[in-house]
Amino acid sequence: MTQPQPNKSYENVRMGVDYYPEHWDEEMWEKDIALMKSSGVAVVRVGEFAWSRMEPRDGEFEFGWLDRALDLFARYGIDVVIGTPTHTPPRWLTAKHPDVLPILPSGAVYQPGVRGHRCFNSRSLRHYGERLIGRLAERYAKHPAVVGWQTDNEFGMLDSQSAQAAEDFRDWVYRKYGTLDNLNREWGTVVWSGEYSEWSEVTPPLGGSPYQNPSFLLDFARFQWETVADFQNGQIAAIRAHCPDHFVTHNFHSYPQRLDLYKVGEALDFASFDYYPNTSPDKAATSPYSGALSLDATRGVKRRNFWIMEQLSGSPGAWMPMWRMPQPGYIRAYVWQAIARGADTVVHFRWRSAHIGAEQFWHGLIDHSNVPGRRLAEFAETSGEVRRLAPLLEGTSPEAQVAILMSHEQLEALRIQKQTDNFDYYENLKEYHRALTKLGIGCDVIDWRQPLDGYRVVVAPHLYLLDDEAAERLSRFAADGGTLLLTARTGVKNLNNVCVMQPLPGLLADCAGVAVREYDPLGRDVVRLDAEDGEQYACSQWADILDPAPGGRTEVLARYGGPVFFAGEAAVTRHAFGHGETYYLGTHPEEEYLRALLLRIAQERGLPHAEGLPAGVQVSVRAGASGAYLFVLNLSRETRRFRLGGAYAEAAGGEGLLGGRRHSGGELELKPYGVEIFRF
Ligand code: GAL
Repeated sequence: MTQPQPNKSYENVRMGVDYYPEHWDEEMWEKDIALMKSSGVAVVRVGEFAWSRMEPRDGEFEFGWLDRALDLFARYGIDVVIGTPTHTPPRWLTAKHPDVLPILPSGAVYQPGVRGHRCFNSRSLRHYGERLIGRLAERYAKHPAVVGWQTDNEFGMLDSQSAQAAEDFRDWVYRKYGTLDNLNREWGTVVWSGEYSEWSEVTPPLGGSPYQNPSFLLDFARFQWETVADFQNGQIAAIRAHCPDHFVTHNFHSYPQRLDLYKVGEALDFASFDYYPNTSPDKAATSPYSGALSLDATRGVKRRNFWIMEQLSGSPGAWMPMWRMPQPGYIRAYVWQAIARGADTVVHFRWRSAHIGAEQFWHGLIDHSNVPGRRLAEFAETSGEVRRLAPLLEGTSPEAQVAILMSHEQLEALRIQKQTDNFDYYENLKEYHRALTKLGIGCDVIDWRQPLDGYRVVVAPHLYLLDDEAAERLSRFAADGGTLLLTARTGVKNLNNVCVMQPLPGLLADCAGVAVREYDPLGRDVVRLDAEDGEQYACSQWADILDPAPGGRTEVLARYGGPVFFAGEAAVTRHAFGHGETYYLGTHPEEEYLRALLLRIAQERGLPHAEGLPAGVQVSVRAGASGAYLFVLNLSRETRRFRLGGAYAEAAGGEGLLGGRRHSGGELELKPYGVEIFRF
């Protein structure tokens, strides 16, 4: 069967808002929509929580209100994305079919009253959800405003222990292992008398203790990834049956997610992200960098441009005490950061702050007063800029010669068995990404299973679980001329989360050109790291004591120092491997060291990078048929004056597309949250 071809309106670079017509008197709609239009809103998302309005009672569908809202959007030429409302099953459904509700690991029922109370294994949820989605899709297939769909809202893992989840898990395990002998062997259930003698004994991890068998816990996570993907597939089939030319996306959120985004992303046309950079001054130094990673990671889900489906518009609150209000320039700067890293459409959450319900203090572009103010004005100004530059930016995307490998399997396995007190898979991955970002080196963040063609440098933190396929692919990448960077806790286990009985880094030992003789889980203790060039740094979390492989092709780049029993032993190495090279970092060095090492690699490999980037200033490039565009963003709270050195010095000397100022290769001055874009 051929894949339906959705319209490509999702490749438009434009701005939008999230709107909840059901929250406002109908008399307000047209005035709102007219103001949206004059503020530059080109697309809205509606509907994702409105099940009780679409189907107030079992089988009684009421779409009149939605027809009228969509007709108004069509009249004003605003595109609409409909969210499927399964994140909030209505009360009649949960009362009639309590199996819709997840059972939490504690055994408690996840009660209705907030949202997210849906067990992905529930057959009732699937039946009623797909019935409603089918009706919606049929009704709006030809509606002139509707261009696409968002599935559910912010999928995550609930570890539901419902009877249906248990039955589905048992089937999943049966399909994977076939016999109880296999299962008992692969999971190593002999430990603590955990052997299964009947399939009926296989249950989800009841009680939720983290100390249960790690092989079992990892498989329970995998089962849930497939469950969510399958749940979504049901929705997508219901949509595509009527709307083959509409696109389908999902709004991912808050990384890291335990849910495997790549699995859930498979069936989507593109990924979306809900982007809420932290407005607190004490997060000002880190938030722009973790945000950059979230954006790159979202682009990596489908290895293509993406959307922001919810973008910060005002002070967040409701789920926590309110954060600071975004200061002038903040909304604009973060729109440009998202676009710089591959967002095409940026939809803001939300048009107006809710005056009812639990999220009253999660602020939208307009305050409760309904008096349009500073934030809407900034949005409108930014929309104008986006509209002006869209013809240039459409069809462009970030290009990278560096990839960071992200793996939900590693994330989950290292969550199940935290290695040391201070060891965190995603936080460490963030540090590599931040070091690259501070050097102005663009990188992709992709699923560790993806092909590596086209990259020159691959950073692969903590490939704790390994199989032959991954080890061969990575070894081939290095042998064929790539630079591969591996870290401590590589090759520790097989994919069943069972420790391998061979020297580490296991299947990658040949490629790395080292053997781990012994290790010391440092945790929060800090140890000196003496680089071969005489510089001293600090490292923590972990210390692999490395033996370079015989043959002289492994060079020691740093050794442990200070009063530790392994002082003088190798900590960081470089192995000349085939036509390429493999770096092995047996410890977690401070960021300064990572930056120095990555700069050295960038220089040796001729990777474009920037010099002299002050704190909080980020550069990135989008390129395509219309040319290349350098985005320079000051995401700090201070004015930054600097000379952009390195690969982008010349580009930054040209005419800025936003300010129209000339910088003639000299210093750039960017006000707090100032942005400039250069064509080169
Ligand atoms: C998102 C969610 C929205 C809204 C927003 C603010 O995570 O998708 O519905 O709740 O956060 O809390």
